Amino acid sequence: MVAPSVLSADFARLGEQIDLINRSNADMLHVDVMDGVFVPNISFGFPVMKALQRCCTKPLDVHLMIVHPERYVERFCDAGAWSVGFHLEAVEDPEPALQLIRNKGVRTCLTINPDIDAERLVPYLDKVDMVLLMSVFAGFGGQAFIPETLDKIRFIREQITQRHLNTLIEVDGGINTGNASAVYAAGADVLVAGSAVFHTKDPIAAIEQLRA
Ligand code: DX5
Ligand code: ZN
Repeated sequence: MVAPSVLSADFARLGEQIDLINRSNADMLHVDVMDGVFVPNISFGFPVMKALQRCCTKPLDVHLMIVHPERYVERFCDAGAWSVGFHLEAVEDPEPALQLIRNKGVRTCLTINPDIDAERLVPYLDKVDMVLLMSVFAGFGGQAFIPETLDKIRFIREQITQRHLNTLIEVDGGINTGNASAVYAAGADVLVAGSAVFHTKDPIAAIEQLRA
């Protein structure tokens, strides 16, 4: 699956940009929420999320880069999220926030930054619908893919296969047509792409190329 990241869209023409995504073969729209505390950047929050819900026909895959996700996950569920994910390293215990998301009937996702050992996700693989492995440090679009992520993907894929789980693996950061096939071959199910989709002349074609 391919999930374009709206963070790289032109916000002055957000409606048109989402229209392109609606007409494309994208599987979902990745929605990056940053609070300026967990990451050194601020993106957008509920007003934009609600606008996306109104104009986007694709499932909204919410990636929270915030502290205290348990305070906000329900509101993102209510704002129309298909999945809500937050960082494992942002909380002491992910279970309360995961339960709030499940109670809303929304898919759960746990995320780790590149400096967090993938082993830490292992106890949760049967408790979430998806894990998101960051292939850049969360906070900004347009960074270069960290190649060591491929080993992490293989490791998590192995764990999922061994335990006969159907947890999805999503990978986010620096994905482009040059590395997409390696990320897929390593075992990823969902490829997030910001710049490689929106910073091109033809985002619909760019999504096709990533799939190919
Ligand atoms: C980074 C975000 C990513 C970002 C990806 O913190 O989580 O989703 O938008 O953008 P690219 O594909 O440009 O690295
Ligand atoms: Zn993201």
